Amino acid sequence: MARKPLLMGNWKMNKTVAEAREFAEQLGQQSQSLCNDADYAVCAPFTSLHILRVMLPANVKLGAQNVHFEEHGAYTGEISASMLKEFETVYVLAGHSERRQLFGETDEIIAKKVKAILSQQMTPVLCVGEVLDQRDAGKTLDVVRNQLNKGLAELTEAEIGRCVVAYEPVWAIGTGRTATSEQAEEVIAELRAALRQKVGATADDIRILYGGSVKPANVAELCSQPNIDGGLVGGASLQADSFAQMAAEICKGV
Ligand code: 13P
Repeated sequence: MARKPLLMGNWKMNKTVAEAREFAEQLGQQSQSLCNDADYAVCAPFTSLHILRVMLPANVKLGAQNVHFEEHGAYTGEISASMLKEFETVYVLAGHSERRQLFGETDEIIAKKVKAILSQQMTPVLCVGEVLDQRDAGKTLDVVRNQLNKGLAELTEAEIGRCVVAYEPVWAIGTGRTATSEQAEEVIAELRAALRQKVGATADDIRILYGGSVKPANVAELCSQPNIDGGLVGGASLQADSFAQMAAEICKGV
C-alpha cells in the first residue's frame, strides 16, 4: 500500500505566459526541494502549457484544469483531450467546485470528461466536496459519495484504478479556513471505503488528495494522515517559493 504523495498546483485563471515562465525558472532553481519520493504537477491555464512543458523541472508534470468530453467538432471555445495530450499533459482536473458552481457542470458532464481524459491515457483528478450548508446539515459524506459514484459511473474497474480523487470542501477553498486534518481524514477515509466497494483492494492504490487553503504551514500535518496522499493547492501554488516549501514539507514525511 505504498501510495506516492502528489503535490498538485491549480493555478485557476492566473498567470500569463511570461509569469508562467518566471515560475518555472524559479522552481528550477529550487529543484533540490523536490525529492523523488513524491510526485509534482501544476494545472495551468491552456495558454501556459507549452512554456511549462519546455521550462518546468522534469519531475514536475503538466496538468490542465478542464477539457471537453467530445473528441472534436463544433464546440466553439473548447479543448479536447487529444489536444491536451499533445502538450504531454499528464493530469486533468474534472469536477472542480468552481466548474460545478460557476459553469453549471453536472455529475453527468463530469463523468463524460473523466472518461475522455482516460481515453487519451491521461489521469483524471476527480474533485468532490460539500458546501457549508451541506456540512452543517450533516450531509457531507452523502454528498461526496454521491459525487464520487456519479463521476466514476462510466468507468470500468481498471479505469477507476487509474484515477486520482481530490476532496475539496467548498467552504475551505480560497477562504484561509482549512479543514482540520481530522475533518479531511474522516471524509477521505470514507471516499476510500466507497472506492473499495467498487474496486476492492485497488482502492488502496488510488491517490486521494485534500484541497482547500493548503499552504506550507499545514501541508505536512494534512499529508501525515493515513488516507491523505497529497494536496491540490490553489493560492499557495502560485509562487515557486511556496510550491517548493510545500514539496520540502511533504518530502520530510516520506
Ligand atoms: P486554495 O488552495 O486557494 O484554497 O484553492 C484550493 C483549490 O480550489 C484547488 O483546486
